[in-house]
Amino acid sequence: GELWEQYSQRVADRMNNPRNFGELTESDAQKLGGRLVIADEGAESCGDTVRLFWIVDEKTNIIKKATFKSFGCGTAIAATDMMAEMCIGRTVDEAAKITNLEVEHALRDQEDVAAVPPQKMHCSVMAYEVIKRATSIYRNVDISTLAETDIVC
Ligand code: FES
Ligand code: FES
Repeated sequence: GELWEQYSQRVADRMNNPRNFGELTESDAQKLGGRLVIADEGAESCGDTVRLFWIVDEKTNIIKKATFKSFGCGTAIAATDMMAEMCIGRTVDEAAKITNLEVEHALRDQEDVAAVPPQKMHCSVMAYEVIKRATSIYRNVDISTLAETDIVC
């Protein structure tokens, strides 16, 4: 079918109505009693960027809130929005294991039909990489020391 028919309804919906779009500030962190983490990542292939905001409970390492800003395409916005949602309620270490394939699966309308055309899978890699970046900031470790998770693009 036509290219636009290769996007799931869930992707189309989140492109236009992301649930977790926006910034978090130090005052939000204070209100929620957590630590603010801000991470930036860019996609080498297209030059687009994303900024992820987390508020993390430092006693439990649980992510209480996650939002993002993006200069990426619609697919990047939908993927990052879903990724942010998947972070909430997980510990930082659990979130660090989320793969771009899991994000893509969560965006499918039907189990066996891809959520985005293959040439747009790389846009979801940025959502995965920015989690790694946020984890390295929170853990205060070099990003290269974090275990690689399988990505598909
Ligand atoms: Fe750049 Fe999708 S994020 S083309
Ligand atoms: Fe760019 Fe896969 S990361 S095509």
